[in-house]
Amino acid sequence: MIEKIEKVLLKESEIQKKVKELGEKISEDYKDTLPHLICILKGASIFHSDLIRNISIPLTIDYLSVSSYGDKTESTGRVHLVKDLDNPIKDRDVIIVEDIIDTGYTIEYLLNLFKLRKPRSIKLCALLSKPSRRRVPVKIDYLGFEIPDAFVIGYGLDFDERYRNSPDISILRLIEE
Ligand code: IMP
Repeated sequence: MIEKIEKVLLKESEIQKKVKELGEKISEDYKDTLPHLICILKGASIFHSDLIRNISIPLTIDYLSVSSYGDKTESTGRVHLVKDLDNPIKDRDVIIVEDIIDTGYTIEYLLNLFKLRKPRSIKLCALLSKPSRRRVPVKIDYLGFEIPDAFVIGYGLDFDERYRNSPDISILRLIEE
């Protein structure tokens, strides 16, 4: 299998501009509360760390790790909890920070899990969405970009654990040898 970076879809400067806008919007919407921004590892790690630095009000953070992909580009539809949150979210104003909403299975699993823990509110912030691939409906409260049905890498997103360190987001094409 040959991996080919087909084209840059979103440049670092476009991403940073959008992250700043999202941070400003969240700062305004949550100015009377203490939002709790949960990073879904590993894909959202870069987005989450940039986003929180663009939020000007006090906040708290936590990390949770799930996996649903193997070394392939298709979701298995089965979500595994790899690392749970460190802190309770009861009565908190939770914002889930995700890298990308694809089929929607992962976020559906997470919302069901978190709602059982009785947060005061729960919203979703996702950098990317592939609406054409959705299998379950998902309401995204803060969205960066809608993208076409293509496999993307960079800015935290991986293929087989690689490419997360690229500051741009690019389309990766896999060519059978
Ligand atoms: P979903 O459960 O199908 O919505 O997929 C969610 C997760 O799959 C994301 O949090 C990503 O980690 C991963 N994923 C989905 N699409 C892509 C992609 O194009 N590139 C890299 N990872 C992806």
